[in-house]
Amino acid sequence: MNEKILVLDFGGQYNQLIARRVREQNVYAEIRPYNKISCEYIKINAYKGIIFTGGPNSVYDEKSPHFDPEILSLGIPVLGICYGAQLMAFLAGGKVSSAFDKSEYGNTILNVEKSPLFENIPKESRCFMSHTDYVSEVPEDFDVIATTKNCPVAAFSSSVKKLYGVQFHPEVTHTEYGRTIIRNFLYNICHCSGDWKMDDFIEKTVTKYKKELAGKKVLLALSGGVDSSVAAALLYKAVGDNLNCVFVDHGLLRKNEGDFVENTFKDRFGMKLIRVNAEERFLGKLKGVTEPEQKRKIIGKEFISVFEEEAKKLGKIDILAQGTIYPDIIESGKDDSAVIKSHHNVGGLPDVIDFESIAEPINDLFKDEVRQVGLKLGLPNELVYRQPFPGPGLAVRIIGEITEEKLNILKEADAIFREEIDRCQQKTDTNQYFAVLTNTCSVGVKGDARAYGYVVALRAVTTDDFMTAEWTRIPYEVLEKTSSRITGEIKEITRVVYDITSKPPATVEWE
Ligand code: XMP
Repeated sequence: MNEKILVLDFGGQYNQLIARRVREQNVYAEIRPYNKISCEYIKINAYKGIIFTGGPNSVYDEKSPHFDPEILSLGIPVLGICYGAQLMAFLAGGKVSSAFDKSEYGNTILNVEKSPLFENIPKESRCFMSHTDYVSEVPEDFDVIATTKNCPVAAFSSSVKKLYGVQFHPEVTHTEYGRTIIRNFLYNICHCSGDWKMDDFIEKTVTKYKKELAGKKVLLALSGGVDSSVAAALLYKAVGDNLNCVFVDHGLLRKNEGDFVENTFKDRFGMKLIRVNAEERFLGKLKGVTEPEQKRKIIGKEFISVFEEEAKKLGKIDILAQGTIYPDIIESGKDDSAVIKSHHNVGGLPDVIDFESIAEPINDLFKDEVRQVGLKLGLPNELVYRQPFPGPGLAVRIIGEITEEKLNILKEADAIFREEIDRCQQKTDTNQYFAVLTNTCSVGVKGDARAYGYVVALRAVTTDDFMTAEWTRIPYEVLEKTSSRITGEIKEITRVVYDITSKPPATVEWE
């Protein structure tokens, strides 16, 4: 069992970031909503430390999230962040006030006192504040250990009780020594040893599944995305040829992508991989369909049918494996009706296939950890750092009816754009980039003749989370080269445009 930290979620926007910051320091962290667990649960789980997250409320609000004050007497170190710090002060008998005239948002200078929490941090540094309420009186036996110009209690602690509160956000990168503060909490205060390492994770997971799945027939739907690929590579190490991967190639993948997936798993790894070439079947079903949601539904339904047909051919299946990852299953403490987010991999898989149970080997990992595991297992960079790609594939990037001709045109244009961006990756700070085949045709001149062809749009976005995104300022010379290559190499395209809309108001995909 790994040592672990509890991130007690009070509905803050940075709960996942806090857990990732802890894990970066080689300590396992799990997120639990405040309203779904008790002190009893915490005791049984023997956490090395607890972090109270921020949250949007004021501790005096009737509806604000609270917790059993006993949590502060369990002898487990606690770090309260922002709302979490105010709640700690409140539960321990301190006072929280509203700072309407003094509310702080943004970077400010932090002055720290000597404390195990602030080891190796200069007296003055930059921190990120975002609050209206503040701790106006620390509880008895607590000391103020940091201040800012507007905040008399930027941090406080009782080193005897191992309780620490910080009004600022150490988890965000704007806080200059945020990582050090989190590290100090984990190692100086919780006395963690740092046993969360990806090499160990691989070894432990493989050993576990070797035992649990011995002699069982395992089925996994491989999409070519990083999650299902890493799940497959891990399980292959555990069960070898008992792992049956089915890769449904709906023909809507990017240029050469189907072959790349097949070569990687079949030739490089020697895995049993069933590739179903179902392009004709999917295009047949999509014939005449122009409405985006309908396209998605048809593809989803057909995908399951094809997968089921293949699975049935394999005979009895014992275990269905899935590449579910941690963010897919985190419950949120944002409100009382917290629900587990349903994942696109989870929701839609077959009920027709009989299986004993589900194996989800990476459901404890964040995306960056999945990538680390993938690299350690020897998966190619291209796959591990693959940009996000919608399940319905290029179908959402062809506006209007999808035909084989349009699909081929888009594949070529998209490949050229990606090639040109990849060539100057260090100059373009972009997280996702692709081409879209619009439903508009336009006049052009090719050679000496008038040409009438498609308008292709290029899309590139810069984003952390894909919930919001900026259009990427791609250097003109890259756009120019891409445009002249696309119009020169693809006779059906007469015009190339660049999408300069951020999200919101637009979305990343055009649909
Ligand atoms: P939008 O277009 O909603 O896209 O701004 C946000 C991100 O999600 C990706 N996307 C999908 N990913 N299955 C996925 O796994 C899907 O059906 C899907 N649709 C959109 C999109 O590429 C972008 O990164």
